[in-house]
Amino acid sequence: MLLEIPRHTEIFGSLKLHELQRVIKLDSGNYDAPHANSIPRDALMEVLRRSAMIIPIKNEKIHLLDGVLRAVPHDTTIIIVSNSSRDPQDRYKMEKDVVKRIAELTGQEIIMIHQKDDGLAIAFHDIGYKHILDDNMLVRDGKAEGMIIGILIAKAIGKGYVGFIDADNYIPGSVNEYVLDYAAGFCMSKSPYCMVRLAWRYKPKVIEERLYFRKWGRVSESTNKYLNMLLSVCTNFETGIIKTGNAGEHAMTMKLAEILQFSTGYSIEPYQFVYLFEEFGLCAQEHSSFPDAVKEGVEIFQIETLNPHIHEEKGEEHITNMLLASLSTIYHSRICSDFVREGLMHEIEEMTGRREMPEENIKMPPIGNIDADLFMKIIESSSDTFKWFSAQTSSASHTAATFDDRESVREVMEE
Ligand code: GDD
Repeated sequence: MLLEIPRHTEIFGSLKLHELQRVIKLDSGNYDAPHANSIPRDALMEVLRRSAMIIPIKNEKIHLLDGVLRAVPHDTTIIIVSNSSRDPQDRYKMEKDVVKRIAELTGQEIIMIHQKDDGLAIAFHDIGYKHILDDNMLVRDGKAEGMIIGILIAKAIGKGYVGFIDADNYIPGSVNEYVLDYAAGFCMSKSPYCMVRLAWRYKPKVIEERLYFRKWGRVSESTNKYLNMLLSVCTNFETGIIKTGNAGEHAMTMKLAEILQFSTGYSIEPYQFVYLFEEFGLCAQEHSSFPDAVKEGVEIFQIETLNPHIHEEKGEEHITNMLLASLSTIYHSRICSDFVREGLMHEIEEMTGRREMPEENIKMPPIGNIDADLFMKIIESSSDTFKWFSAQTSSASHTAATFDDRESVREVMEE
């Protein structure tokens, strides 16, 4: 793959924030271009084998999930965390049927679980990570909560990289590209603490009966503006480097995933920036609980995809809630200045007609100290919805073979 070399990188404490890079060519063979980042195919494949793609899903069209599953490269493990309704129609069962068919047809390793599974809640309870549980002692609703479950499963099966793909994508080809873009980012990184965030080239919309290739959505525009302002005020140098504040499509090394604090629901992505600024920015370093990451540095790549992004539109209220959650996460940051807070308040007032900032989002601490093997063992013994589809003859056999002994695998093979 060929990617532009970023012309500019912001250095903020231990953080390296690279400017948006465009994909020049998705498949460039092994051509070593002098003025671009050339990532050889073998290097991409090696990363894919060590990656898991986590798909959080809640009541999406089954056809869309089907397309997404078919698009993830074979050697990458897929982990689906579903919060879909089980009653009156059991949507999880419908999802499981699709997954089973694709796993049997293709031999791809796919793991799935339901977010509201009692066994999952028991596992979180027993390993002492109750921050993710609600008042009913089940895992809370929320995309972020689903992502954390996926990360822990990926950690338990020994993956070094995790990526996230929304289940409501209409273009399987774009999903395939996202996974390759993630791998390319990891290949470029000099640090084991790395994140890759995607910006879509276009997000087409039908306007006056024509397809309009829109560049930025309202949520991204506003979140990026205030994240950049937060950064500018911290460094005293104005910047517009952040273009991926709300990137639902993003990936990170497991080493970085282990030290991140998480914010609930849709605030998870902008909060990743806020947290990294707080923890690894200029002023925070001396007190960091993660001296290794401070030393190695945390690298963030922003890649503009070649493909456009077409997904399910969920309406105005959904957009407003997502924006409120994003802005609130910046407002409540301990490094946010009065100047930035005033700007945020003004934005909220324009949007809602009220000068009222939403409450601080719930935060969940890093998962680095969790014994992921124990977590997995508890799930395997107490979950009703956990399924692990894996073909012993898969070409990803270095992964599958390691887990051939596991009961859940045998169970699935016998089905
Ligand atoms: N497991 C789980 N649990 N998944 C969920 C939940 C939940 O409670 N809620 C939503 N999801 C899944 C959806 O089914 C979808 O696959 C994915 O999370 C994203 O949710 P959407 O509701 O489709 O979000 P969106 O398309 O409006 O926003 C996306 O893009 C934004 C950037 O523009 C999300 O990825 C946002 O997080 C992102 O900021």
